[in-house]
Amino acid sequence: MEIHSEPLLDVDRYLSNEKEGQFEYYRPFLENCLRSIERFKPLTPETKILEVGTGRGFFPLVCGLRGLRCDGLEISPQLAKRAVELGREHGLDLDVRLANIEEADLGENIYDVVMASSVFEHVERWRTGLQNVYRILKPGGVMYFESTNKFSIGSGEYPKFPLYGWLPDRVRYEFRKIVHGPDIMKLGIDFHQFRYPLLRREFRKLGFRQIHDLVDLSDPDRVSTSWKKSIANLSKTNALAKRAALTFAEVTRFICVK
Ligand SMILES: C[S@@+](CC[C@H](N)C(=O)[O-])C[C@H]1O[C@@H](n2cnc3c(N)ncnc32)[C@H](O)[C@@H]1O
Repeated sequence: MEIHSEPLLDVDRYLSNEKEGQFEYYRPFLENCLRSIERFKPLTPETKILEVGTGRGFFPLVCGLRGLRCDGLEISPQLAKRAVELGREHGLDLDVRLANIEEADLGENIYDVVMASSVFEHVERWRTGLQNVYRILKPGGVMYFESTNKFSIGSGEYPKFPLYGWLPDRVRYEFRKIVHGPDIMKLGIDFHQFRYPLLRREFRKLGFRQIHDLVDLSDPDRVSTSWKKSIANLSKTNALAKRAALTFAEVTRFICVK
């Protein structure tokens, strides 16, 4: 992947779909991410946080509004600019570096927390990107990872098409090129539909000492509907139920500790 300085259609589409109040809509989810991270790493104004794939800057903004400092790393100049503008609109000076996580030389042992939400499916050389994340984390540092899950029924990448993620990669790419135009392959395509076992193996290989998945992280008491609560409880106690829950869950979600 490369940094494209010209405006890209898919980024225009992403930005033009932004609705009034979208930040407030996402805010509870992002605050929840911070609460999950806090179970493994206390968050203070001194904590060094980085978000990879900052997009419109919602996560650094949530951090900033809580008195935390989160830097951004973003491959799209259009989105990096939008994130900085959003920060200014809220009186915050966000630091968003224009870079590709596949290439970025960010040094070693720099950050206490790395946030990677809805980004690695778009990173063509995802293993290289993850090696960079691992390298920049301090020992004891925490990575929050969320991405696609191949066998989910619906997919955030193309919600109109049930079982979209089940399609072979090549078929998905061709389909998206027809729907959105060839530019989608420059930025925006989901190069990867991940699976829990694949990611867990990769995280272990990188050297993460603790690897917690969606089921480990879930709190059945915080689930709103009773059938979901039953599934959450069963998945925590029964290995087969856990495997089924992770296979069909909407996303892959992990917190890993270096
Ligand atoms: C779907 S958006 C998610 C934005 C944000 N993390 C969120 O959850 O709202 C994916 C973001 O990752 C960025 N991105 C994709 N590939 C990247 C790469 N190789 N290096 C850095 N950023 C990348 C995209 O430009 C986009 O802003």
